[in-house]
Amino acid sequence: MKFTSVQSLREEIRQALQTCRNSTLDLFIGVDRDTFCTQVHPDFSPIGWHLGHIAFTEAYWILEKCAGSAPVFSQYHKLFAADGLPKSDRQNLPALEVIRDYLETVRERVFTYLETAEIEQQERLWRWLIQHESQHSETISFVLQLHRFKKSNDNITLNLSIPYTPQSTTHTPEMVKISAGEFEMGRNSVEAQDNERPARLVYLDDYWIDRYPVSCSQYREFINAGGYENSQWWSEEGWKWLEENPVSQPLYWLDSSDWENHPVCGVSWYEAQAYAKFADKRLPTEAEWEKAASWNPETGKKQSYCWGENKPSAKTCNHDNFVGHTTPVNAYPTGQSPSGCYDMLGNVWEWTASVFSGYENFESYPYTGYSEVYFDNQHKVLRGGSWATRPWGLRGSFRNWYHPGVRQIFAGFRCAN
Ligand code: AVJ
Ligand code: FE
Repeated sequence: MKFTSVQSLREEIRQALQTCRNSTLDLFIGVDRDTFCTQVHPDFSPIGWHLGHIAFTEAYWILEKCAGSAPVFSQYHKLFAADGLPKSDRQNLPALEVIRDYLETVRERVFTYLETAEIEQQERLWRWLIQHESQHSETISFVLQLHRFKKSNDNITLNLSIPYTPQSTTHTPEMVKISAGEFEMGRNSVEAQDNERPARLVYLDDYWIDRYPVSCSQYREFINAGGYENSQWWSEEGWKWLEENPVSQPLYWLDSSDWENHPVCGVSWYEAQAYAKFADKRLPTEAEWEKAASWNPETGKKQSYCWGENKPSAKTCNHDNFVGHTTPVNAYPTGQSPSGCYDMLGNVWEWTASVFSGYENFESYPYTGYSEVYFDNQHKVLRGGSWATRPWGLRGSFRNWYHPGVRQIFAGFRCAN
């Protein structure tokens, strides 16, 4: 009995590593050398760097730390370690084939080690590693989108060749009420990241939250009302950001009726905050977001996902690059949360009002540079995942974080009151 459960855990992890890797490599199909190596934005490394860093991280944690092997490909240590070179010095990269070979060599040894590893004791690390690749895979999608955006004269188009059928056509902007009370925030299970732990009970008063993420048509009212020309809706810091970054619409904005019902995508936290003020609302705290996404008032329990415990699928939310772009905010009624919120997982990341910090009794894992160094009051929390988020990074308690001025990610928001 014991033997079979250990074997099935090994098998599950092997499969997840394989599936995740296949998805990562799919992103590189048809990618030219220039796209592979060029740093398209100062905040993001070239996609080829991310690929090498994925191999480096796997070799470091599994082969060196767990299996005690000598470093493999030590010539890449400096280049692919997160603390090796500044982002701007990461453009001088080996060819795709060479990095693929690096990935493959590491992976073969990792799979050999997995056959006899103390998997029950190491499960958390392996699950962390799968999520590490998932997150870099999503960053690769962000960077690829920036390349496409540049090439197509600052325009992106809907890929209508991808079969996509909206499940619902009615969309009434509205809010849902979340009743006062305690809920369980965070997560303790083995796949939870250090920053999701430890789970604890949090009391919130009554509040209201948007049923859908803010759509392009709603956001257009802000633009048309002179949102980007009028400081009245902006915080002092936000207005300063706008003066330094003179923009007049979201990064991934298309003035076409096809996008009316899609969520706004490619806004900074400051823009989200300004829109909320314009709409006479505010951004939800991450606690408010998480309660609306995962607390089931009927059962008095928290759910892993909005819809329950089943793993994310193409039916429940827009994720994993299945569609390749955003979808209308009401397209996934089966993915509703118990409180009736749509699209909380997948489609676009949602900015929250909260600063990224550790929960009470936080403990770093697997290293302080993963979360703890970002508890610097300079990062805001995003929740929910985007259309490019891998399934291992999608759940009600998952936390992402960026500087409030970053808009080169697939980020939108919903409001609260
Ligand atoms: C949580 C997405 C901000 O990409 O910088 C990857 C995740 N940490 N490798 C990042 C991460 C270490 C992180 N984000
Ligand atoms: Fe990393």
